[in-house]
Order: sequence, then C-alpha cells, then structure tokens
Amino acid sequence: LHVVHVASEMVPVAKVGGLGDVVTGLAKAHQQSGILSEIIIPKYDIIDYGAVGELRLLKSLDVTFDGRPVTTSFWSGVVEGLPVTFIEPSNGFFWRRQFYGAPDDLQRFMFFARAALEWLLASGKQPDILHLHDWQSAAVAPLLAEEYRGRGLSRPRCVFTIHNIAFQGWMSPPFLAKVGLDPRRMAEPHHMLDDSRPGFAPGTHDCSLLRGAVVFSERTTTVSPTYAREVFSPEFGMGAQAILSRHRHKFSGILNGIDHESWCPENDAFLPAHFSAADPSGKEDCKRLLLEELGLPYTAPDWVAQRQSGGQQQQQQQQHGSAGNGNGNGAAAQQARPSPGRPLLAVVSRLTVQKGLPLIEHGIKTAIARGAQVVVLGTASEPEVQRQWEEMARDYGRGPDARLVLRYDEGLAHRIYAGADMILIPSFFEPCGLTQLIALRYGTVPIVNHTGGLADTVRDVADGGVPEHERNGFVFSGRDAPRVEAAVHRAMDSFFNGADWWRRELVPRAMLQDYSWSRSAQDYLNLYRSCL
Ligand code: ADP
Ligand code: GLC
Repeated sequence: LHVVHVASEMVPVAKVGGLGDVVTGLAKAHQQSGILSEIIIPKYDIIDYGAVGELRLLKSLDVTFDGRPVTTSFWSGVVEGLPVTFIEPSNGFFWRRQFYGAPDDLQRFMFFARAALEWLLASGKQPDILHLHDWQSAAVAPLLAEEYRGRGLSRPRCVFTIHNIAFQGWMSPPFLAKVGLDPRRMAEPHHMLDDSRPGFAPGTHDCSLLRGAVVFSERTTTVSPTYAREVFSPEFGMGAQAILSRHRHKFSGILNGIDHESWCPENDAFLPAHFSAADPSGKEDCKRLLLEELGLPYTAPDWVAQRQSGGQQQQQQQQHGSAGNGNGNGAAAQQARPSPGRPLLAVVSRLTVQKGLPLIEHGIKTAIARGAQVVVLGTASEPEVQRQWEEMARDYGRGPDARLVLRYDEGLAHRIYAGADMILIPSFFEPCGLTQLIALRYGTVPIVNHTGGLADTVRDVADGGVPEHERNGFVFSGRDAPRVEAAVHRAMDSFFNGADWWRRELVPRAMLQDYSWSRSAQDYLNLYRSCL
C-alpha cells in the first residue's frame, strides 16, 4: 500500500496545532507496519530546517494558477524518517513568516493542492491513497476527479479527514477557476455550492473546499466517533451538516492517537527528570523544576520531605501539624492527613473561541481560590484575545499563584505536561483534542467538557458505568461557568483529601491509558483498503 498525505502541517517542522502531530504520527505508525507513507507539504520559509535531513531539489515545474504559469520547485527531504516533498512556488506564496493568517490563504492553499497533483503526475507516482487533511488540501479531491484522473493519475483514491470544521474554505464560484475548476459545474448543490445556508445569495461566498472534498473523496473521516455524530447538528456542523448528511454512508470517526516516541516521560529530551507508571516519583522533580523555571514558589508534599529525611516518622508528624491540607480546616483528623503540597493546574491551548476561553478563565480563578497554582501556555491569533490575555498575564506575573506564557514553546509544553497535576480543557467543541491524551501519558489528570474526542477519551473518576481502570479524569457537561467550577472543585477535593490515592493510583492509571496510534492506524488501514 502506498499512501501520500497532502497536508499543511507536520511535526516537528511545521506545527500550529494537533493537525501537525496527527499527520506525522499516523504516517510514522503506518511506515512502521510496512506501508509506504509519504507527505507533501508547502515549503514555508519558517520551516525548522534543522529537523529536515537530506534536503535536495528534485525538479522545477510550471504550475498553472489563475491563468498564469508559476515556476515551482519541488524538494525532497526526510523528517522523522518519513519521505517528504516540499513545494515552493516562486511567487512567494509560502514566504510569509507565518503558516496561516495571510489575506490570500485561500489562493495559497488552492495552489498547493494543484501543485501537489502536478508533482505526482510529473514524478510518475501512482499512490493508492491520497490522504487529505482539512480545507488546505481539500481542493485535491475535486481536481483529481475533474482533471488529473483524465491526465493519467488514474490510481489514487482520496480519503479526506476533517480536523476542524470551523474552517471550510468558503469562496464565490468564479474563484474556483483560479485553481482550474469549472465554476459552472462546481457551483451546483450536489457539488461545492451550498444553497441551504441562511441568507444564501447566489454568487457570494457559497462554495466551499471542504464540501468539494466531501463530495469527491471516496471516504471522509473526522477525528473521533463522538464528534462524527455531533457534526450532524447545526451547532457543531457549522454549515457542513447538510453535505455530510448527504454523504453519510462514507463518513466515519476514527480517534486520533499520539506518537509514543515523541511523547514519552521515560526519555523525553525536553524534561529535567524522567518517570514511568511503575515509578512516577520523577514527576514531582519535574513539577519542582517547572515552578522554578516559571519563577513560582514550590511547596513540597510530605512524602518528598520524608524521602529527603529517610522517611523518619517523627518528621512526618511534625509536618502534618504545620503544612495544613489546603482546606484551612483545623480538625485533628485533617491535620493528621499528609500534606500533598499545592496542586498545579495547566492549560496548553490555542486561545480561541473553540477552546472555551471564558471557561478557561473561570477555571483558573476557581483553582487559584482553592489554593492551586496555575500555568497557561497559549497563543492567540486574534489581537483582542491576545491583548486581554496579556493583561491577565501581567496581573498574575507579580504573584506566587500563576504564570501565563503567551507564545508557542514546544519544550515548555513538554515540561508542563510532565510537571502539572491536572490540565483544564473546557472546549466548547473538540474534534479530538490531543492535549488530554498527552497529559494522561504524563500522569496529568484532565478536567474536560464532555464533547467530541474529550468525551471519547476521558471518563470521570466517579463514573460507575465504566471499569475503574478507565476512570481517568474529571468530566463536566455544558458551556456555563458553574459546571467548570464544580469540576475544578471536585478535582481539588480529590487532590487535597485523597493525596495518596491521587499519587499512587490515579497518576499511574492515567499513564497506563493507551492512546498510541496502534489501534487507530489499523482503523485507517482498513478504511484505505475498503476504498481500493
Ligand atoms: P488544536 O489542534 O485544536 O490546537 P489539539 O489538542 O489537537 O488542539 O492539539 C494541540 C497541539 O498543539 C498539542 O500538541 C499541544 O501540545 C500543542 N500546543 C498548543 N499550544 C501550544 C503552545 N503555545 N506551545 C506549544 N505547543 C502547543
Ligand atoms: C484540530 C482539532 C483538534 C484535533 C486536531 C488534530 O485542530 O481542533 O481537536 O485534535 O485537529 O486532529
């Protein structure tokens, strides 16, 4: 089987969010089971070339776009052992110092789709599967069906994966001609035109690339089973529900995995200390050193103090009296309970509406009020959101309770997953979500909204309906503040009152959940085979 992923991101060279993790992780998993897996991505000027081996120019070709030839270079490289083709048009489409967010994104990525097909044709490759990801490569499917199959690219079948339905690549019909699609044929309701949108007026932004990929691909998937059900409602489908319903027979949800080689607390090169489910004690060192890195004070739990003093009972008893348990309750029984230190609650997220911004804010305030410390690592693409979070970062920046770090930082993300006790993910919608999977692998307990992939992967510690070893987090349901507040309180209660259970039972249990690619990579293989 020969699979070519056409995508706008892949880790570690070009990542904005989870899409980059998934493309590389899935291709690696398939390669390890003997599948020929390749990736085609744009040659952005901001690619981390340090991580690309053997980069060499393969060929230059003219790719017709908007009626004009654009001289385009095709480069080959190796990333994480995977063969990658980088596409570099001479018109500077990918020399923008950013991955997305340029005013002509639609054109840049429509060009990318056409250039990918032009390259496959010129190189004589006939992969079995073209795996397309999100709107950025969606134009491949209609272009293959309408033009390239007839020009000799006869073998490939298309699988289209929706990672984020909020972005669909809407445009007016004449725009389609730029990439070589016939606007009259494509601007039909059974093709790329959506005449069911509220306020539909022919000729405006009523065609979408996502729709084109759903119509022309042999299979469409999204990244979790629950989200695959949710998208049929207008609230979650965001306009795509009608076309997905029409093509429901070829639509399914396959849960994302994470790459256990990149996310491995036992040997993660970004970490100052290592740990495993069998011996998680190094996690506390990661926490202490993370707090130090962030300039926040560290409060050692009693068991650390005992370890340092050789476990002397006497010292343990002295500490019980002084350290308290965070509840401020002087009852003798509670004083005798070992102090767990201060919990550290993390957020690692793009700061966008999808991620439940008001709930993040509310959750961190609740946690701090309960005596927790908080670290947020996030990036905002909207200036207004950036400004608001910068202000919060300044307010907290002087105190001992929280640090808000507003940048993209891969190494710090790893150290946060390792050093935090809990991670808050109150997303309004979440196609899959990887941060809860990564957090679990590092023994960091997720607090999540019951939606999309979060619902498929996190089960409440009090959920009697699932086996105990699968209860791995704190789950709430809904988009209002009291819900997230109650979940954070429950997590804090467990941490303060059940410190031993948390450390000895919950942390190893979280670490032993298997969300590696093994099962989902096989599901994709079955799907590929089903459309050949
Ligand atoms: P999404 O793709 O919607 O952003 P996911 O949970 O699927 O959400 O994936 C997010 C990925 O991006 C994870 O690998 C997470 O660690 C990473 N990430 C998010 N924000 C940052 C940041 N500011 N710095 C480093 N990594 C980040
Ligand atoms: C998207 C989604 C996220 C998913 C990721 C990878 O960015 O927002 O939920 O995990 O893609 O599929």
